[in-house]
Amino acid sequence: MNIEKLKEFCGEDWLKVAGRIRGALKSDIDLLNTTNEMILSHSGKQLRPLLSILVAKACSKPESMLPEDCIRVAAAAELLHNATLLHDDVADESDCRRGTPTLNYLMGPSVSVLVGDYWLVSAINEIREAEHFGPRLISIFSDTLTHLAEGEMLQLQKARKCDTCEDDYLRIIFSKTASLFEASAVAAAISVNAAAGMEEAVKKYAVSLGLAFQIRDDIFDYAKGSDVGKPTGVDIREQKITMPLLGAFENSSADEEEKIRAMVRDIAGHPEYAEEILDFVDRKQGIKYAEKRLDDYISLAVGSISSLPPSEARRHLEEMAYFVAKRDR
Ligand code: IPE
Ligand code: IPE
Ligand code: MG
Ligand code: MG
Repeated sequence: MNIEKLKEFCGEDWLKVAGRIRGALKSDIDLLNTTNEMILSHSGKQLRPLLSILVAKACSKPESMLPEDCIRVAAAAELLHNATLLHDDVADESDCRRGTPTLNYLMGPSVSVLVGDYWLVSAINEIREAEHFGPRLISIFSDTLTHLAEGEMLQLQKARKCDTCEDDYLRIIFSKTASLFEASAVAAAISVNAAAGMEEAVKKYAVSLGLAFQIRDDIFDYAKGSDVGKPTGVDIREQKITMPLLGAFENSSADEEEKIRAMVRDIAGHPEYAEEILDFVDRKQGIKYAEKRLDDYISLAVGSISSLPPSEARRHLEEMAYFVAKRDR
């Protein structure tokens, strides 16, 4: 499976989403148009709007046209996602994303924050226009925005103390990543008036998919020398304890764990600790543990949609889950 195949399957609806994203960003400020164009020319995987379209198709009759509100929801999901990345690259001081220099690197943090705000507001405008489902849609997305901010703040709080346990980690990755997958799927289901049971099924699917997605991302961070389009080895330097290190702790004594946590706490003054911690994760099979947890979430995701009527769209949702498990960037 590749993303292009999914886009091909979404056909006309996909083209409408791409058009809506462009339309939402039109401005009479040249600098905004220039920066927006820079972002659009390296568009990334666009998984969240694809998720919206596939969910809407899986919850409607084959051949039925998707309503414009569904296209708006899909566009909003991608606009919002990009806004979070523009802000995240400032928070993480990141100079490379999607294999290209970030706006943060090229034009500085102020530009990245302001353009991120613009994309965020553009997302809100799309949601506001999808008026037929009114306040419910607004609260789905405002809950997600709350989760995104809380997730980033909890991550910072935990990084200071280096006391992240697996429950904390799962809450962080639900909040900062899976909650937007959830909103993309649930809002799309609502836009096609899906029955309550279907809505529940795609919600469970999307949450598990989002958790798996972030675990894969956190495994990438431990990948030495591979090209994932953004820097690796940064999480530990930012004192972020993620699934591979938590997995290594699972396979260690309490003393070993405490020693490594203390090193993470002191890493700013001792950058050389990074190598030792990576080696610890390697020796204690932390990646293997993380991959097992990831596979469990993929199975949960696929199982969650088994109650939907069999369709090409449902099959593509299953393919999307396998793609998330195996993706290499
Ligand atoms: C990156 O998301 C941020 C995370 C939630 C890990 P993606 O990997 O979906 O980013 P793009 O849009 O494809 O670059
Ligand atoms: C996920 O966090 C980003 C957002 C949800 C904004 P990361 O910091 O792990 O994402 P990358 O690695 O920069 O893409
Ligand atoms: Mg981050
Ligand atoms: Mg980041």
